[in-house]
Amino acid sequence: MQQKIIILDFGSQTTQLIARRLRELDTFCEILPYNRFPADDTSVIGVILSGSPFSVYDPQAFHVDLSQFRGRLPVLGICYGAQYMSHVLGGAVEPAGSREYGRANLSVIDTSNSLFHGFSSGSQVWMSHGDTITALPHGFHAIASTSHVRYAAYAADEEPTWGVQFHPEVFHTAEGSLLLRNFVVDICGSRQDWSPANFVDATVSELRSQLGSDRVILGLSGGVDSSVAAVLLHRAIGSRLTCIFVDHGMLRKNEFTDVMRDYEGLDLNVIGVDASERFLTDLQGVTEPERKRKIIGRDFVEVFNAEARKIKDARHLAQGTIYPDRIESLNITGKVIKSHHNVGGLPEEMNLSLCEPLKWLFKDEVRRVGRQLGMPEHLITRHPFPGPGLAVRILGAVTREKVHVLQEADDIFIRGLRDYKVRLSGEEARRTLAAGIPADMRDGEIEVSLYDQIWQAGAILLSDVRSVGVMGDERTYENPVALRAVTSTDAMTADWAHLPYDFMARVSSDIINKVKGVNRVCYDISSKPPSTIEWE
Ligand code: XMP
Repeated sequence: MQQKIIILDFGSQTTQLIARRLRELDTFCEILPYNRFPADDTSVIGVILSGSPFSVYDPQAFHVDLSQFRGRLPVLGICYGAQYMSHVLGGAVEPAGSREYGRANLSVIDTSNSLFHGFSSGSQVWMSHGDTITALPHGFHAIASTSHVRYAAYAADEEPTWGVQFHPEVFHTAEGSLLLRNFVVDICGSRQDWSPANFVDATVSELRSQLGSDRVILGLSGGVDSSVAAVLLHRAIGSRLTCIFVDHGMLRKNEFTDVMRDYEGLDLNVIGVDASERFLTDLQGVTEPERKRKIIGRDFVEVFNAEARKIKDARHLAQGTIYPDRIESLNITGKVIKSHHNVGGLPEEMNLSLCEPLKWLFKDEVRRVGRQLGMPEHLITRHPFPGPGLAVRILGAVTREKVHVLQEADDIFIRGLRDYKVRLSGEEARRTLAAGIPADMRDGEIEVSLYDQIWQAGAILLSDVRSVGVMGDERTYENPVALRAVTSTDAMTADWAHLPYDFMARVSSDIINKVKGVNRVCYDISSKPPSTIEWE
């Protein structure tokens, strides 16, 4: 049975990070809302209580019944999780004199405690809290402190329960991964058998028994998630998988043919549908972003359905849904927000059941599974691309001509990012490799492309804006193109990428010189929030 750690979410922004750290320790874990502990699940080997935006005294603070697992399973409370256990078990939590935020150095009091096994003295930790524990419950003792925080970490005398005031999951806690390893491996007994190879073996045999001799349809987008889902399913059921790839006419330059070629190379059974005429006709004159999205969504469902209907006796619809799409995260009001996206709108008479083989994976795990499956690197490292394509990157009405102009500018930008190599060493190199970014080793340094260092990039055509320029002896009056490149881990938040000036200079002059209709290039320096990644 697959062992798992349950992370109960009290609404902290770093809850997903805890899960990612555990997965890096080859340990399977699930994030659940604080009040959904699966008491009957015998595969649970430990529990982590996350941080929270609330103080334990806030009227809206979240409460959990600790008796469901306390004493029976190892428990680690992080920040609010630690304060909460102290508070409800008879200790004291009070507002800290000032909010403690940032780096601190840890003095381990009890070096024999298994949570701190292998820790260095003065190890850096990251604090972020407004309250502090001022007294521990009876039967608990301090195991570490900092110059400001007396109970930076505690343990129970006679039950496997720990609390840490700092955040082991964040990068700035230097030995955070070691602490989490001590907890999940030494204390909870994780076998560390959550690996891409095991995932592929287990999923392929599960899919075989779940699907039997049924036929499955899958919508491909050219993106990494649906492509990996397709290859995984193909390994399980071979030619009984049929994929549909719709070209809505607003893909990147040559993308439809390039990706179709990749899919052929992977032996996938793909029906490519060129529906660009229909989409572009329906979008004529439409400028409002939401209307564009609705029209594209509707057309997509209709085109997809028309193809799907031709596949007789299909019983399942497969999707590349991944874990972050499904996590029921809490917002500040305590409401559970479910952000599940799917193709949607398939007619009921088709009676298809949903098959989501990647539903437990984070994006970087999907990429590792893709490598395990032997997929080409350029498919695996491809940037995310929005379903409505370039339509949401053309501000104003979409026409075939504008799509062409934008495709050319975008292609220069993206090829430039792929060709520009950056050399990294030391900590930066270590972090890059740990994130699974493909790199070449050279003289003790690593070389990575700008493309692989960033989350997503693209060009935006401001087709309703014109500005004056001069080219040769001629005055021009043409459109600007904006370039957008962001760093992110999950697209929920993003920062603009600090691209090198020499790179930007070259791309800008290439675009203005080579793309007819564009005489100005700008770079978008907005982060998300408050902006979004896409402009529409
Ligand atoms: P925003 O613009 O909301 O984008 O910051 C977040 C991420 O989602 C992608 N995106 C989409 N993906 N269908 C998709 O499949 C869509 O309609 C869509 N809109 C935005 C966007 O490219 C970014 O990665």
